[in-house]
Amino acid sequence: MSNQDSSAYPLGYSAHEASRLEQQAAFLKELTEEVLKRAGLRPGMRVLDVGCGMGDVSLVAARLVGPTGSVVGVDRDPEGLDRARARAAAAQVTNVSFRQAELPQIGGSEKFDALIGRLVMIYFPDPAAGLRALLSHVVPGGIIAFQEPDLSRISTVPPIPSVSENVARLNLVFERCGFHPRIGVSLGQVFEAAGLTPSLLGATRMEQGGGGFCPTWLVTTVRSLGPAMVKTQVATEAEVDIETLDHRIRQEADAANALLLGPLMVGAWAVMPG
Ligand SMILES: C[S@@+](CC[C@H](N)C(=O)[O-])C[C@H]1O[C@@H](n2cnc3c(N)ncnc32)[C@H](O)[C@@H]1O
Repeated sequence: MSNQDSSAYPLGYSAHEASRLEQQAAFLKELTEEVLKRAGLRPGMRVLDVGCGMGDVSLVAARLVGPTGSVVGVDRDPEGLDRARARAAAAQVTNVSFRQAELPQIGGSEKFDALIGRLVMIYFPDPAAGLRALLSHVVPGGIIAFQEPDLSRISTVPPIPSVSENVARLNLVFERCGFHPRIGVSLGQVFEAAGLTPSLLGATRMEQGGGGFCPTWLVTTVRSLGPAMVKTQVATEAEVDIETLDHRIRQEADAANALLLGPLMVGAWAVMPG
């Protein structure tokens, strides 16, 4: 698959997916903010946020760099970018702008003090090559910070069938589409292959029992991936049975009083040499 092939993007670009991304962003916000702070994002910096989606990471960064700094969010999805612009305007955030581009190209030769991204390198056909290409936009001494998942670590203790089965499907559909569902645990190697010396931090969200957001996260994600699951022959609609999935997960989790673990989110950051 080439970098230009957006048709294989397994989550799709539906209204459901747009709102799922916003819910997911709220779920992950503190974990991302921690990585950006540890990476050294600070007031006055000019930041490039690649694969910005609905603009959630850009908005976190905009607050960290303050009114003397600025953020450019880049994505291929024009509707997502419009939504990001509207959300920034509604929040009266004026130091952020959004542009369309097909990564790893962003157009022009502009340089930034920080290159950041979340849940995007998972889609780079060759993550190290993609990262290397983006480094041409970072000033020497600038910061690079990404947060990527290991989707195979989503689990419950004790295991419950409705979760294990769908976590396996979710990982398989990403693999069959040519992406990297476990890239989080390789992020250190990806940084090194791009000539960087990374610091790493892994974190996840945990909940006891079936009453929280972890089931919602899994069900909404499986719903977005549904068409790709069918297309890649990971599962049929009947096997997934999306309309009853939320209920089944919550019931099984409550019956076992299970601990639910969300995706392992690995943050990697480094300073641009030179
Ligand atoms: C899972 S979303 C994450 C959005 C956002 N970073 C967040 O964490 O909320 C991945 C985003 O990366 C974008 N994306 C993936 N591959 C891309 C590419 N090659 N060029 C431009 N955008 C890309 C998708 O359009 C999507 O908006």
